[in-house]
Amino acid sequence: MTDWRSRFGFHTAPFTRELSVAHRFSLPMFDEVLMALFRAVDQRGSAALVAPAGTGKTALLRALLDQLPEARYRVHYVKVTDLSNCDLCREIAVACGAQPAGSYPMLVRRLQERFLSTMSDDGVRPVLLLDEAQGLRPEVFSLVKILTNFEMDSRLVLSVILAGQMSLRDLLRQPAHEAVTRRLVHLASLRTLSRPESHRYLAHRCSIAGATTFPFDTGACDAVFEVACGNLRATDQLAAKALEVAHDAGAAIVDSGHLAIARRLLWP
Ligand SMILES: Nc1ncnc2c1ncn2[C@@H]1O[C@H](COP(=O)(O)OP(=O)(O)O)[C@@H](O)[C@H]1O
Ligand SMILES: [Mg+2]
Repeated sequence: MTDWRSRFGFHTAPFTRELSVAHRFSLPMFDEVLMALFRAVDQRGSAALVAPAGTGKTALLRALLDQLPEARYRVHYVKVTDLSNCDLCREIAVACGAQPAGSYPMLVRRLQERFLSTMSDDGVRPVLLLDEAQGLRPEVFSLVKILTNFEMDSRLVLSVILAGQMSLRDLLRQPAHEAVTRRLVHLASLRTLSRPESHRYLAHRCSIAGATTFPFDTGACDAVFEVACGNLRATDQLAAKALEVAHDAGAAIVDSGHLAIARRLLWP
């Protein structure tokens, strides 16, 4: 059986999650958020990025990491799951090379010492990227507050970027979390793509995967947008499945009929 990738001229699978920073789809919206988060970190502040699932938050954090020079920043990425204060502390400790053992107060002290020594001994600024931060348990907000509070706020040591789905905004609005929200110097958001942006996105993902001709007809592009509503992850899933369907049908180009089948196969 011919591999569906070679049928459409791809040298690699298109629409996968493995996307190098250099191959990102560029939009003013992404550039503006990236610049705002970079500026927050550069000012030694903390910030939040709140947007629906699949709109590019994690990809943007990767781009931010790429923009922060290693000579000046030490960036730690932690994906939040439903963890207690103590367990999240351990995760952060593992990410930043501190010993992940001991009681909660001991762990907090270890992290604070580690961040301070990163700054004073190594001369680089520690940055903590907390992804999926909508999953932060309420009590864990106090940890974020403690970690960003050095010597009673007289020194800005650690920058925290909280990235999460829309419910993170509700968490940040709660009066109980005001101490954390007040520390944020920027609240960024991302939206879904418009129809023309979605078409350009499809073309971009095909071209970075090596396609010399664009394998979706206009009806297929419209159908992708109507089903995925400009959500990047849904667009990826649908486009990849439609290519498979078109290949199995022996077609050289994906049309709206293939899209309808792909949709049923993905989301019955
Ligand atoms: N700037 C971008 N350029 C190209 N593809 C992107 C970009 N941002 C996101 N994607 C694609 O969309 C998918 C979902 O993005 P992701 O960052 O994981 O969303 P989120 O973290 O908001 O749920 C990724 O797997 C990636 O393939
Ligand atoms: Mg994500």
